[in-house]
Amino acid sequence: MTEENHQKNIKSSEILGRILFPGREIQKRVRELGNKITHDYYGKELILICILRGAVVFLTDLIKHIDLPLSIDFMSISSYGFNETDSGLVKITKDLDENIEGKNVLIVEDIIDTGLTLSYMIRNLQLRNPASIEICTLIDREVRRIASLKIKYSAFKLEEKYVVGYGLDYKQKYRNLESIYELKTDTVKKDIESLKSSLNK
Ligand code: IMP
Ligand code: MG
Repeated sequence: MTEENHQKNIKSSEILGRILFPGREIQKRVRELGNKITHDYYGKELILICILRGAVVFLTDLIKHIDLPLSIDFMSISSYGFNETDSGLVKITKDLDENIEGKNVLIVEDIIDTGLTLSYMIRNLQLRNPASIEICTLIDREVRRIASLKIKYSAFKLEEKYVVGYGLDYKQKYRNLESIYELKTDTVKKDIESLKSSLNK
């Protein structure tokens, strides 16, 4: 199957709605953010921490536009683990490999929703005494924010919609799309209904 046909194959699904952020627009915003970061951190040592897995696509494009000596590291967090009664709601499932003490940390995230995941992570990273911690997110969905966060860089703002593509997934799929798509609301509704009925059993 050619690349083009494969993409058509994904897009003709029942799940994808309209394009909210086209690939070309994403590339333009990522380039602008990279330039701004280059300017803001001039002369400083920078480490970018990518939150797995959704932010991987954003990170790999972003670093190409940052003209500074930098390093990257990865962290994985499981959120909303309601069954893990003894470890709380958020758990680090993969920690950093690097020491961040005295370094300027820039957290790279795909989308910030309630903000609970990131606020936990920032509290955890602050204990390691970095020189600074800032956030760079592809999408900021402020309407559902619970934990207050200072977001230094964000490419796009979004209202209530659930989105996929450019790293963002729905049940681990659609991360490979160039553009960001709205998920059809019927799909989400069906999921919520089946979740509710399984909770009532
Ligand atoms: P929160 O800010 O702690 O509520 O969680 C944000 C995380 O939820 C993100 O890192 C994503 O992994 C996931 N997430 C939230 N909204 C979406 C979406 O619209 N599409 C895909 N993943 C999402
Ligand atoms: Mg995530």
